[in-house]
Order: sequence, then structure tokens, then C-alpha cells
Amino acid sequence: MAPTGLTAIQIRQGHPDFLDLPWQLPLAEWEGKSARLVQVPRGLSRHEVLFVSYGKAIYALKELPPRVGQREYEVLRGLEERGLPAVVAVGLVKARTGAEPSEAEERSVLITRFLDGSLPYRTLFMNQGLERYRERLLDAMASLLVRLHLGGFYWGDCSLSNTLFRRDAGELQAYAVDAETSELHERLSDGKRLHDLDIMEENVAGGLADLAAMVPLPPALDVFETGPNIRQRYERLWEEINKEIPVTPHESYRIHERIRALNDLGFSVGEVDLVASGESDHLRMRTIVTDRNYHRHQLHGLTGIVAEEKQATLLLNEIQELKATLAKELNRSTPLSTAAYRWLEERYHPTIQKLQPVKGGTDLSELYCQVLEHKWFLSEREKKDVGLERALEDYLELRKRQKDPVVPALLLGGPASPSLPRPVEISAADETQEPTSQREAMGLFDHAEVDLIYPIPPQVK
Ligand SMILES: Nc1ncnc2c1ncn2[C@@H]1O[C@H](COP(=O)(O)OP(=O)(O)O)[C@@H](O)[C@H]1O
Ligand SMILES: [Mg+2]
Repeated sequence: MAPTGLTAIQIRQGHPDFLDLPWQLPLAEWEGKSARLVQVPRGLSRHEVLFVSYGKAIYALKELPPRVGQREYEVLRGLEERGLPAVVAVGLVKARTGAEPSEAEERSVLITRFLDGSLPYRTLFMNQGLERYRERLLDAMASLLVRLHLGGFYWGDCSLSNTLFRRDAGELQAYAVDAETSELHERLSDGKRLHDLDIMEENVAGGLADLAAMVPLPPALDVFETGPNIRQRYERLWEEINKEIPVTPHESYRIHERIRALNDLGFSVGEVDLVASGESDHLRMRTIVTDRNYHRHQLHGLTGIVAEEKQATLLLNEIQELKATLAKELNRSTPLSTAAYRWLEERYHPTIQKLQPVKGGTDLSELYCQVLEHKWFLSEREKKDVGLERALEDYLELRKRQKDPVVPALLLGGPASPSLPRPVEISAADETQEPTSQREAMGLFDHAEVDLIYPIPPQVK
């Protein structure tokens, strides 16, 4: 007779041991049996998926047949090793469950670290305050697929539910969740890539059709056109990255140009190959990109800050700006590392400290970028640079008013403060629509983040 309960547990270093969870029961019966269970916004799933918290860390648990669990765990580890954007596997548990020991069967539970600040697509579409991000999903998914395919990952089930989104300075970064049907290859064949795109198109249409039955979709996200639109963006990006450029030996500047262009798109270039084209002295230049984290790596190297790619680009621009200002003041060139140090000490850290009380579930780099955006907005209206401090004060004032019950959650077009002519304040968790139970079923609870929405988006250069 097989005993029920834990039979094997494999946990990576730096995480809890998870031994206090009721492993003798299938996940479907855990409700009320563990105080660690938490509700978070989430996508649809085939398997039982639960979330548990240990202090500030949240983990996702997914129950699978043992062999499937082992495979998904290994694929996720592989994705991490290749630096690809996906949820991070933390461990794998094997347990025997069943009402009677005689009918006990072995199951595995895959544990992944909850992707902080992630938005499942239903939250993206159903919560007010997130409208500006919806169309960003097109580029985010195209870019995710390009990155995964470059890394040799065949997904096999790319869908809206299997993608998580994180805000990135007004844009979205997408991450893969659910690698159950996936394969890791040295290099992905064109056949596999195209097959993955076909699956994506079909799944996206299905996901949007379900969504359209509940909420109106933005015109740019038509049920049947969105998948093909993502594919087009994917193909453009894929071609751009993989194109070969003819060069002659005295045109080495074109190599730098090409690398710069790829870096501007966020791609790091690992290798440049020059091969004879068979035409007199002509060569063909081929670039091999390694990841789409060029600015993230640079920012991390300079400051130790971990940010998303677009956030990192904006923060690096600020550092470059400060470098130019310092050079003018001191009448000599300043190294970027010095400017980065001054920027951290004088701008980033003091601002972050003041933003702590309004942090909520949003990551600090994102909040800092929101303050920058607010600064551009104010500066554009006032036709002068209002400075970081003034922008921060106004920003905090707006966040505070949002919490104040006297101020309606929705200030459409009304002046928010004498100095702020038109930004609109919208709570991400709109209290006025469906009754709680339905909202909860849609994953709308526990997500009271706020974005300040601008009627005229500021021009971010
Ligand atoms: N590590 C994680 N971080 C955040 N959300 C997660 C994580 N793992 C799973 N989820 C959420 O749970 C949902 C279901 O997980 P998934 O792995 O897709 O299960 P299934 O294989 O049953 O479809 C996802 O859509 C996602 O919203
Ligand atoms: Mg899934």
C-alpha cells in the first residue's frame, strides 16, 4: 500500500522548503487547509494552479503528471540558462495523493516563482487604468516570440493565457509561462518557427473571442486580425535581425552602424561574421544577437539596478543627460560611470525613497519612469523644464488624492490640481462594474495599482 504525502522534493537554493504545505492532498483540496494560500490575478489554466506566499515571496504551484512535471521543470531551467524571458522554476515536488491509500497516485507539483508585477491579459483588458498598454501587447508578444525562437525555444502553445505582461515605461514586456508542450533546440528550424506562429494565431483568436464576450476590445485588437498582426511584427523584427548586409573591406563603419541599429532595438550583438560573397571584394555581414537586454545590461553594470529594457533605456538617457550637464559645468568631459554615481546619489535614490509609500505592487524602476513621464508632461505644458522634484511632488499628490475617498476615482478631464491641467486619474481596480464574485472570477481583485493617464500622451524621445 503506497503511503500518501510527499515522496520527493527538489528545491533550488534560496527558497523555502515548502514542507509545511498539505502535500497529502491534491491541490484542488487545499482551500482552507493552508494559511499560505493567496489569490492573485491569473490566466486560465488546464491544470490545478495555486499560489502560496512565504513572506513577501509568492510562488505558483501547478499539479501535473510526474513525467510532464519533470519535463516542464527542465525546460524552464533551460530557458533560464539561456537568459530567455520566462517564469523561473524553483522546484519540483512528487507526492502521492488519493482518498484511499490503495488508490493513491503519484503527481508532481511544479513550483515557479511568481513573476512580480506581472499582469495576466485579462487584467490588462478588464482593469481601468491599463488601457494605454493594451495595444502594446502586439509588439510585446512579437518580441517575446522572436527572442524565444532566437534562443532555440519552440513553445508549442503560445497563447494569451500562457503569456504574462510586465509594464515597462509605457510599454509591455512579455514573459512565457507554461512550457508544458515546449522543446529546447540548439537552433530552431523555420518549420518549427512557422508552426509556433500558426499556433499563436489560433490561440490568440480564441483568447480574444472569449474576452470579447465579456468586454469591448480596442479596435486595434480585432479577434481575427490580432494574431496575423503579431505575426507581421514578428516577421519584420526577425528579418531585421537576421538580414545580411553587403560590405566592402573599406566600409568598416557599416559594421558599427549595424551594431548600433541592433543595440537601439535593445539587442546585444554577440558576434559579427564577414563572409565572402563570391563577388570580387564584396563581403556579407552577418550579425548574431544574443539577447534583447542591451540597455538592461548596461544599466546594471553602471548602477546595479535591475530594470526592464525600456525602463533601462530611459534611465540611461537620464544618466547621459547628467553627464552632458556635468561636462558643461566642469568644462571637461566626465566618465559615464561618474555621472551614473552622481545620478544614483542625487536623483534616483532620493526619489525612490519618497516613492516607497506609494509603491504597492509596482516595481520601483517603473514608478521612477512614471515620475519622469510626469515631468515631461508638466514640462511640455509649461514649456519649460519643471525639474524632477516638482514633478515628484505633483506625482505623489495625485497618488494621494487617488486614495482619498472624497476624490472620485475617475476624474475624466477635470483639473487634478492647479498646476496640473488635465491628467486623468484612474484606479486600476474599478469599483463600479461587476459584482465582486464575478470580478474575482475574472482575476480583477487584489490589484489596486494606479496609472496616471494622460489625454495627450507626452512625446517620449
Ligand atoms: N510563476 C508565475 N507567475 C505569475 N503567474 C503565474 C505563474 N505560474 C502560473 N501563473 C498563472 O497561472 C496561470 C496558469 O498557469 P499555466 O502554467 O499556464 O497552467 P496550465 O498549464 O494549466 O495552463 C497562468 O496563465 C498565469 O496567469
Ligand atoms: Mg497555460
